[in-house]
Amino acid sequence: MKYYYFYLSILVFCIFFKEPTQARLHSHSQTKHNKRMESHNHQKLSYISQPPSPPPEPAAANPPQNGNWSDVNLDVRSFGAVGDGKTDDTEAFKMAWDAACQSDSSAVIYVPSGFFFMIQSTIFTGPCQAGIVFKVDGTLEPPDGPDEWPKNYSRRQWLVFYRINQMSLTGGGVIDGRGQKWWDLPCKPHKGHNGTTLPGPCDSPIAIRFFMSNNLTVKGLRIKNSPQFHFRFDNCRNVHVESIVITAPALSPNTDGIHIENTNGVEIYNSVISNGDDCVSIGAGCYNVDIRNITCGPGHGISIGSLGNHNSQACVSNIKVRDSVIKMADNGVRIKTWQGGSGAVKGVTFSDIHMDNVRNPIIIDQFYCLTKDCTNKTSAVVVSDILYSNIKGTYNIRSPPMHFACSDSVPCTNLTLSDVELLPALGDVVSDPFCWNAYGVLQTLTIPPVSCLLEGVPRSMLDNDIDSCST
Ligand SMILES: *[C@@H]1O[C@H](CO)[C@@H](O)[C@H](O)[C@H]1NC(C)=O
Ligand SMILES: *[C@@H]1O[C@H](CO)[C@@H](O)[C@H](O)[C@H]1NC(C)=O
Ligand SMILES: *[C@@H]1O[C@H](CO)[C@@H](O)[C@H](O)[C@H]1NC(C)=O
Ligand SMILES: *[C@@H]1O[C@H](CO)[C@@H](O)[C@H](O)[C@H]1NC(C)=O
Ligand SMILES: *[C@@H]1O[C@H](CO)[C@@H](O)[C@H](O)[C@H]1NC(C)=O
Ligand SMILES: *[C@@H]1O[C@H](CO)[C@@H](O)[C@H](O)[C@H]1NC(C)=O
Ligand SMILES: *[C@@H]1O[C@H](CO)[C@@H](O)[C@H](O)[C@H]1NC(C)=O
Repeated sequence: MKYYYFYLSILVFCIFFKEPTQARLHSHSQTKHNKRMESHNHQKLSYISQPPSPPPEPAAANPPQNGNWSDVNLDVRSFGAVGDGKTDDTEAFKMAWDAACQSDSSAVIYVPSGFFFMIQSTIFTGPCQAGIVFKVDGTLEPPDGPDEWPKNYSRRQWLVFYRINQMSLTGGGVIDGRGQKWWDLPCKPHKGHNGTTLPGPCDSPIAIRFFMSNNLTVKGLRIKNSPQFHFRFDNCRNVHVESIVITAPALSPNTDGIHIENTNGVEIYNSVISNGDDCVSIGAGCYNVDIRNITCGPGHGISIGSLGNHNSQACVSNIKVRDSVIKMADNGVRIKTWQGGSGAVKGVTFSDIHMDNVRNPIIIDQFYCLTKDCTNKTSAVVVSDILYSNIKGTYNIRSPPMHFACSDSVPCTNLTLSDVELLPALGDVVSDPFCWNAYGVLQTLTIPPVSCLLEGVPRSMLDNDIDSCST
């Protein structure tokens, strides 16, 4: 599936310059198409909203719950949102967004608990006058599956935040992607008749996407069952994710927890992610990423890549993953690149990680390929300066606990292993580590012992500078 990102991002990018315009038009031309919404908004407030509040000014609504009047507090119900799980509350959310966005001081868009707000694919667009707090204590949900999804709305993304300069998405509520019917589409792996995979467009929405935005915090929420990725951050700076829980079934296709791309200054802390694909995936153009105290699994582990597809350049550097647990997962910590790419993955530390019954706890795969017919190529994304420190636990013996498959033309260099102890989860058959063209050192003895790393620096690396990322 990831094979298509490249095309997708181009397509999605184009769409962006269409949809925000439409979104804006809608919020200013209510009367045209939704009389019912109008009446909710301007005359009688929904019967469930209490205490009754005066008709909303663009930037005034319920008093703040915490007694802090310095923020403008905008309850979505005072913009006509009903929250009965059936009514389309999209317009109310857009109006609340516009009011918040135009507010001179930091505004809170408040989504109260005990309600289920159904909203369509929507782009919340900035830049805004001040920071925005989107506080979700209730439940947000999209239409239920592809048949309910209106034809004229994007099927690639559901909630999008675009060109926002400071925002926090918080609360004790739930964002429920209602992914089941998307996962069951016959174009999804083995979901066609008799376990086949049918061809055809298979777009499914990413639940929450931040695009070209900075200074973002996501905190406290539960996000579940996204039709596709749960979070995607692309072209963002300064992202802080903390104390969130992401859940989707182990067999749900392509439901990555948090995907980042062309994004830097990322912190992901104290979170729990179980899903059917990567827990966190780090794409091209990411640097300064710190992941700490997360629990992953079931799923596909923490992944850098895939990088370099369609001969693209990928630069990834200064990535730290530490104090974390990976359990019942296909991979632990993985770096995967396609043949034919360029650029480099440099300066990665995986430390203090506990593995529990993981199939490939430590893996570098520079031959990543989704079909059988990928040809060998002479260029590759450089992989160097990778430290694995204090990685302990158990692996599933179907594959080697350490697997370093590096490019023929561009070997991996300066891999360091320190305090790595991996035991079979079942039985006492030990699988040998696998190395191919991997240069590195052991700082301590490892379990199982690794004797396949090459010493020193390969001649090809001494001769020419193939790292196209360093400037
Ligand atoms: C109100 O909020 C502001 C900024 O969010 C904070 O600095 C201030 O301490 C708060 N005041 C009270 C009384 O909580
Ligand atoms: C999609 O069509 C519906 C019904 O005609 C309309 O209300 C809605 O505004 C349209 N949405 C977009 C994003 O074009
Ligand atoms: C599914 O497999 C069964 C038994 O092999 C066969 O009779 C049936 O025609 C197949 N259905 C389709 C749609 O291929
Ligand atoms: C947002 O982040 C940028 C750096 O990306 C920083 O210069 C700016 O001060 C931040 N803005 C706010 C409002 O925090
Ligand atoms: C680690 O994250 C969990 C939530 O997953 C939290 O309960 C715990 O307090 C965190 N530990 C530290 C040291 O922050
Ligand atoms: C590609 O290279 C790998 C590693 O050298 C080798 O095992 C494989 O046979 C090659 N494949 C082709 C199609 O040449
Ligand atoms: C090897 O990688 C480590 C980080 O894992 C780094 O600190 C060190 O400087 C690198 N050594 C060389 C010779 O680049």
